[in-house]
This record gives sequence, structure tokens and C-alpha cells, in this order.
Amino acid sequence: MSKLPTTTYKRAKPVGQIPHHLPQSHTHTHTTMAAPAPPKNLPVTVRNDVYDAISPEQYFNGTSTAFHGKVVIVAGGSKSIGLSIAKFYARAGAIVVIVARSEGTLADAKKQILAETSGKAEVLTLSADVVETKAVEELVGKVVDKYGKIDIVVQSSGITGGPWKKPFVERDPYEDWWKVFEVNVRGTYNMAHYVYPHLSKTNGTFAAFSTISVQRNLPGASAYASSKVALGRFIEFAAIGKSHPLRLLSMYI
Ligand SMILES: NC(=O)c1ccc[n+]([C@@H]2O[C@H](COP(=O)([O-])OP(=O)(O)OC[C@H]3O[C@@H](n4cnc5c(N)ncnc54)[C@H](OP(=O)(O)O)[C@@H]3O)[C@@H](O)[C@H]2O)c1
Repeated sequence: MSKLPTTTYKRAKPVGQIPHHLPQSHTHTHTTMAAPAPPKNLPVTVRNDVYDAISPEQYFNGTSTAFHGKVVIVAGGSKSIGLSIAKFYARAGAIVVIVARSEGTLADAKKQILAETSGKAEVLTLSADVVETKAVEELVGKVVDKYGKIDIVVQSSGITGGPWKKPFVERDPYEDWWKVFEVNVRGTYNMAHYVYPHLSKTNGTFAAFSTISVQRNLPGASAYASSKVALGRFIEFAAIGKSHPLRLLSMYI
């Protein structure tokens, strides 16, 4: 995802069939019973572009100040998806805290965010490994000490354990297979655990990323896919267990 165009966004035409990248039949299941055929006309609109209802343009051009002064932590905000999200929040006027392990990559990401906001954004970089419980506790403490609150947390730090060339039995148990679980599940748990009390005070949002791989039996992807299934279930339980207003989302991409 890169910088959005400033022109009006196209509205994609509705498509009345299952997208080609989703399973078209249930022949991959491990049962010998005939599975029901999926509905032919799902009541969904397939979109391939940003459309008006979700366009962030109103936040960028000042029509809405909804994100001004919001404190947003993006774990995994030094690269790719996380960095794009951090840029969007910064352009919308939020205070952005980006977290990752590599200090060099964080510094570069901060430069990019400042360049996209003409130097106006407030950006804090914090180097931490989300697997390390103590490090997460400390980083959350630093954010609250500096800004007094946390409004939004995007948990984008994750690893795939790719390339998915080897079956699980040929992979190193910890340095390879379990490491994926550690970053994706333990890292998400650690972040959720320490930010939850602060998000509860601000009626905040915690968002984590799942993946289409949870729906596909890709050879070699057992660690990644099953860690993301676990992450999704964790978010479901965190959401039903909450005692304060708090939105917990798991997004599929
Ligand atoms: N890209 C896709 O097509 C895709 C599809 C579906 C789902 N997703 C999910 O979306 C999320 C972001 O994906 P991406 O492609 O943007 O990943 P990416 O390019 O590999 O970036 C990962 C980010 O997480 C950080 N990170 C990794 N391990 C960490 C750790 N232990 N502690 C703290 N930070 C850590 C990385 O920085 P450091 O390495 O410096 O720590 C980096 O900032 C992931 O959860 C991924 O599973 C991605």
C-alpha cells in the first residue's frame, strides 16, 4: 500500500460470484461426506479499490479532525503494511508511535512519515521485540508517560516463517516453527495485555492482522496459518471478555 491518489476514488462494480481466490468447492476437506455447495450468489460486494465510505481523504484534508491528537501505536510500523498505516494516521493528525526491533529501519520509517507530512507529524520510535514481555511492558509505560494515554493500537508485527518450502517435520522446532507462533501469538498477547487498561480508559481500538492463509492448506505454511488461527481466536476471546468499552478487531488481508 502506498500513498493514496488525491483524485476521487472509483466505486467497484458489485460482482455476484465467489472471488476466484476463495475456495470454489469443499473438495480439500478431510471428510468423505459430501459437503454442501457454497451459495452461488453471496450477498456481498467485491471491491478492488478504496471507495467513498472508507476513503480516508476527509481526515487528510482537514474536513474531519477525528484523529487529531490521538495516540496511535503501530507495532511493526517500520515497514510495509504497518508503515503505510502509520503514515495514514500521521497524515490524519495523530501522534504516531512505531515499534519494531531494528533501530535503523525505525529511523528510516520516521523520516518517511515526516516527509509525507511536511515535517508536521509527531513520531516516536521505540525499538522492542514484542515477544519479550518486559520490553512490551516498558514500551507501553514510555508511551503513557510521554503522552498520557493510548487511543489506538495496530498490532502489525508478524512473521511468516517463509519461504514455505519444507513440511513441518523438516523445520527447526524453535528457531523456525515455534518462532512464528512466538511473534504472531505471544507478541499479540503481550501487546494486548499491556495496552488493554489504557485503551479501556479511552474507549480505544486494538487491531491485529489475520491472513487469508488461515483458509488455505498451503504446503509448508503450517506455523504461519495455525498461528494466525490462534491469533484470531485470541482476539475473539479478548473481545467477549472485555469489561470496558473497547473494540478488538482481527483484519483479514
Ligand atoms: N504482506 C502480506 O501480504 C500479508 C498478508 C496477510 C497478512 N499479513 C500480516 O500483516 C502483518 C504485516 O505484514 P507485513 O507484510 O507488513 O510484514 P513485514 O513487511 O515483514 O513487516 C513486519 C514488521 O514487523 C516488525 N517485527 C517483526 N518481528 C518483530 C518482533 N519480534 N518484534 C517487534 N517487531 C517485529 C518488523 O520490523 P523488525 O524486523 O525490525 O522487527 C516490521 O516492522 C503481519 O502480521 C502479517 O502476518 C501480511
